[in-house]
Amino acid sequence: MKPKVLVARRAPAEVVEKLSAHFDVDYHPGEAPLAPDELRARLQGKAGAYITGTERISAELLDACTGLKAVCTMSVGYNHIDLAACTARGVLVTNTPDVLTETTADLGFALLMATARRMSEGERLLRDGGWKSWSWDFLAGQEVHGTTLGILGMGRIGQAIARRGRFGFGMQVAYHNRSRLPADAEAELGARYLSKDELLRQADHLVLVLPYSAESHHCIAAAELALMKPTATLVNIARGGIVDEDALAAALREQRIAAAGLDVFEGEPRVNPALLTLPNVVLTPHIGSATLPTRIAMAQLAADNLVAALTSRPPLTPLNP
Ligand code: DGY
Repeated sequence: MKPKVLVARRAPAEVVEKLSAHFDVDYHPGEAPLAPDELRARLQGKAGAYITGTERISAELLDACTGLKAVCTMSVGYNHIDLAACTARGVLVTNTPDVLTETTADLGFALLMATARRMSEGERLLRDGGWKSWSWDFLAGQEVHGTTLGILGMGRIGQAIARRGRFGFGMQVAYHNRSRLPADAEAELGARYLSKDELLRQADHLVLVLPYSAESHHCIAAAELALMKPTATLVNIARGGIVDEDALAAALREQRIAAAGLDVFEGEPRVNPALLTLPNVVLTPHIGSATLPTRIAMAQLAADNLVAALTSRPPLTPLNP
């Protein structure tokens, strides 16, 4: 008998086909995520779960679904999974690093550019018939080339953004991370290590790429925003909960920083109404890795991990032993 697995979100047809060749698949192809109760009910008797960032795997859920042996998420972030609880119960967890690095860095840089150069504001104005004439300071934004690019969280995506800034735009790269990069990696990226406060003070454009955890929750709040330059921009492509959105909205409203570009939100898909009314913020709906080739690569990797995990082979990208 094939092991039973839940595919909790709509996935590429070839991936569902591959999983069906190995498993007895319970497929939820709906556009909306399963409600927590429904997720719990459908995980009963399943050996594996193919999920995305929208399904929460908590200790309580694991205790209610004791047959679960593997949780494979189609995402690099795994803050929706209680990894310690999974490890303690012998549940294998995998994510999808690497395959989305460059695509997510592209979106991060696009957001930085759109934010610094007021592109959304310009488009809204044009569509609303507000473009009357050329004038010298019309929609004048912030310089990008040659400025200081600050990166908070220097993992794979942070380094990919650093390369774009340094080699594409002649920016000076500064960063802060829990652990400092080896000297040769710093030299290759031309990256200066700074304390978090110093990074906030020096960055012309600050990009947040750190993982979300209890430690990074609201790590950009009023005190941190107060250290930033009034001309600075802030870009968040990590997780919404890293930023105190009320404090950010106040800083943007009072022009204590110039602008922000946000791809992630604390209560997504709900967006803090204070952000929606501000002209100096560019908002995108969590599309960092959203190109078809990258999303297919992520889906394939998550499926390959599930097949390996449930056929006693080592998963490709495990998060726990
Ligand atoms: C990721 O892969 O973590 C993206 O944010 C999508 O969830």
